[in-house]
Amino acid sequence: MVKKKRILVTGAAGKVGKVVVKDLTSHGYDVFAVDRDFKEEPDMPNMTAELTDFGETLDALSSIGEDVYGRAEMKAFDAIVHLASIPHPREYSDAETFSNNMVATYNVFEAAKRLGINNIVWSSSETLLGIPFEQSAIESVPVKEDVKKLGSSTYAITKVLGEELAEQFCLHNPDMKIACLRLSNVMEEEDYKQFPSYNEDPTKRLWNLWSYIDVRDAAQAIRKAIETEFKGMATFIITNDNTVMEKPSEQLVREYYPNVKITGELTENQTLLSNEKAKRILGYEPQYDWRNFVK
Ligand SMILES: NC(=O)c1ccc[n+]([C@@H]2O[C@H](COP(=O)([O-])OP(=O)(O)OC[C@H]3O[C@@H](n4cnc5c(N)ncnc54)[C@H](O)[C@@H]3O)[C@@H](O)[C@H]2O)c1
Repeated sequence: MVKKKRILVTGAAGKVGKVVVKDLTSHGYDVFAVDRDFKEEPDMPNMTAELTDFGETLDALSSIGEDVYGRAEMKAFDAIVHLASIPHPREYSDAETFSNNMVATYNVFEAAKRLGINNIVWSSSETLLGIPFEQSAIESVPVKEDVKKLGSSTYAITKVLGEELAEQFCLHNPDMKIACLRLSNVMEEEDYKQFPSYNEDPTKRLWNLWSYIDVRDAAQAIRKAIETEFKGMATFIITNDNTVMEKPSEQLVREYYPNVKITGELTENQTLLSNEKAKRILGYEPQYDWRNFVK
C-alpha cells in the first residue's frame, strides 16, 4: 500500500494555517498540525509546541506518528509548511516580533535539515517589497520578485532575514528546497464586504498597491509549492489576479504614483504585485475574485 504523503503545518491554528490544513487534507495529504495555541481541538493529529524552543521543534518535526497511528502507518514527514509567526507589525513589541519570528524560523529550518526533510514551504510576505509603497521609491510596476528587499518594519525585517536564512540553508544543503511565498494581505470571504469602500477612497490601500490574496488561493499556492520539484531557495509573490479596486490599474498608477514607470501592458484591474512567476513555475491559478462575493 502506498502511504499518503505526510505534511507538518506550523501555525496550523492561524488564519492561513486553518485553511491550508483543510486544503491539504482534501487533496489527500496526511496533515500533522502544530501550533502553540490551539483555540479549538483540531480534528487531526496535532501537537502543541513552542517553536522558539529547539527541543520542542525537533520533537514535533521528528514525530513519526507513534501516538496516532498503528506501527505499520508510522512515517517521517515528506514536507513542512512553516506558517507560525507573529503576522503583523506592532501587534507585539518589535523585539518580541523579531525574536519569535527569527528563532522559530531558524529552529524549523535547522530541525528539518537534521532530519533530512528537504521540502519546505515558508510564508514570507509582500512587506519586504518596500511596503508602505508611498514611502519607498518604487521604480516600476508591476512589482516583481527581483526588486531590492526593503524591510520598513521589524516584522518586514524578519521576512527579509528569513529569506536570507532560507538561502543559506539551501546553499549549504544542496538537496534542500525552500519556497518562500511572499503572501499579499490575506483576506477571508467576509472581508470582501469592505472592498467597495476602497473605491471611494483609493488612498486607503495605496500602501500595498491595492493588492490582496484570498486565503483559499494562498492555500492553493502553498500546496502547489509543495508539489513543484526544484532545489534551492526561490521566492514567489502570491496575489490574486486583480486589485481591490474598480478603477483600472493604469489609471490608479497615473493618479497616485505619477513618477512610477509602467512596464508592459496593464489589463483592466491587473494586480500591480506580479503573480506571473508563481503561475509560470508553480502552476498557481487564483480562483477567488472578490467581485464574486460582493452583491
Ligand atoms: N495575514 C496576512 O495578511 C499575512 C500576509 C503576508 C504573510 N503572512 C504570513 O503568513 C503566516 C500566517 O499568518 P496568519 O495570518 O495565519 O497569522 P495568525 O496569527 O492567524 O497565525 C499564526 C499562528 O502561528 C502561531 N505561532 C506564532 N508563533 C509561534 C511559535 N513561536 N510557536 C508555535 N506557534 C506559533 C500562533 O499561535 C498562530 O496560531 C505568517 O508567517 C505571516 O507572517 C500573513
